[in-house]
Amino acid sequence: MPQHIRIREVLLMEPPKPSLTIKGWVRSFRNDQFIAVNDGSCHENLQVVIDPQQYDPALLKRITTGAAIAAQGELVASIGRGQKLELKAQHIDILGDCPAETYPLQPKKHSLEFLREHAHLRMRTQTFGAVFRIRHSLAYAIHHFFHQKGFIYLHTPILTANDAEGAGELFQVTTLDLKQLPRTENGEIDYSQDFFGRKANLTVSGQLEGELGAMALGLIYTFGPTFRAENSNTTRHLAEFWMIEPEMAFYDLHDNMNLAEEFIKYIIQYVLDHHPTDLEWLANRLQEEESKKPQTERSGMNLLEKLHFVIAHPFERITYTEAFEILKNSPYNKKKKFQFPVERWGMDFQSEHERYLVEKHFQKPVIITDYPKEIKAFYMRQNDDGKTVRAMDILFPGIGEIVGGSQREERYDRLLHRMQELHISPNELYWYLDSRKFGGCPHSGFGLGFERMVQFVTGMTNIRDVIPFPRTPKNISF
Ligand code: 4AD
Ligand code: MG
Repeated sequence: MPQHIRIREVLLMEPPKPSLTIKGWVRSFRNDQFIAVNDGSCHENLQVVIDPQQYDPALLKRITTGAAIAAQGELVASIGRGQKLELKAQHIDILGDCPAETYPLQPKKHSLEFLREHAHLRMRTQTFGAVFRIRHSLAYAIHHFFHQKGFIYLHTPILTANDAEGAGELFQVTTLDLKQLPRTENGEIDYSQDFFGRKANLTVSGQLEGELGAMALGLIYTFGPTFRAENSNTTRHLAEFWMIEPEMAFYDLHDNMNLAEEFIKYIIQYVLDHHPTDLEWLANRLQEEESKKPQTERSGMNLLEKLHFVIAHPFERITYTEAFEILKNSPYNKKKKFQFPVERWGMDFQSEHERYLVEKHFQKPVIITDYPKEIKAFYMRQNDDGKTVRAMDILFPGIGEIVGGSQREERYDRLLHRMQELHISPNELYWYLDSRKFGGCPHSGFGLGFERMVQFVTGMTNIRDVIPFPRTPKNISF
């Protein structure tokens, strides 16, 4: 065990404590006397107090913002404002210098844009510290939720040969020499010579393999990275994002929705219970950001109120057709305020429509079910009307779609037929079809976009600010 104590533990101690050592990074150094030290274990800094007379001036000069130090001394009650405790240091060691002339982070507020360009350093700021501590806790709470319900965490592959969603947004993976591609007789690329002997890609979803797990283990979930080469430069899309995909044997669409709602509320409550200081910081940050917006665009609730509100109220549940009617007859649509007018049943909703439903019309999370089959994936259970499928999307304020899920088509003939209609090869997916041939049963599942969830809980408006190193079009620097 290291000989030092982390600040989150120090803050729980009763002073005085004769001698302890902390290690961390200097946030600020005032009057040659007060060093604010943060070690990442919590939002709070520890105030380290020194008597400048006792130190070599050359050492004092090295106590700069960002420098790594160790401080050893007595923990006492602080008489100063702003903190209960402070460390009266008898000894300071500089573990790593941080020259102020070249260090990009100054002891002042930086814009999120600036910090995105310095993503290798931004985790050292208070905002990003809070975001990544909360991101961790959300991941922890997710595992806890499923574990206590008896779900098995299933590791589905990252390298695959399938396009689960059928949207063609694949990152291809190859070891072929791109300058000298092997060709077949008719001039096509000869993938039999590629690493896997066929075309391969990064996964867009672990669902298809997850379903196979559910057909044996009953209740499973995946939690892993997924990759989509969609060229959308928005505040809600990443090329590499993390997704949680539970899959449940013998669940119908209602069981699926109930589980998703309980799950989301549980993980939000977990963060509320464990991160009061980080949330307070982020709530203030958001309030400041919102105060710069025009009055009409501001959200009526602060971050904490929003989180409590979502937990306290049941999500609204409506069908696509009902949502379509609401949108079509809305004053917004009539006054032509939507960029994409709502006219034709069957259209896919744009984020402006989703946000209208959630933020203006219902003013709470909404679950939309029974979408037109043309705008949903091949594996969703077909309704008797011949037009819609047992899909469910959960829409959140400020975010839009946060969950996509469905009851699955468990009837072999129906599934095969739909695959043929969409030109999805039954030969390549024979293993998926087998799950319908051998003891297939009604089952359901959904996918929660992890970063969108972190966005909602932290109030960060841009998805690039809730993943340590975002991958977006033309951006893979760090
Ligand atoms: O709606 P999607 O595409 O659903 C699936 O992938 C299903 N296989 C899930 C399932 O039923 N097991 O994606 C699920 C969620 C979306 O609702 C969204 O929150 C998130 O994943 N998502 C993205 N998040 C960030 N960047 C992107 N490019 C995303 N695409 C989807
Ligand atoms: Mg979706």
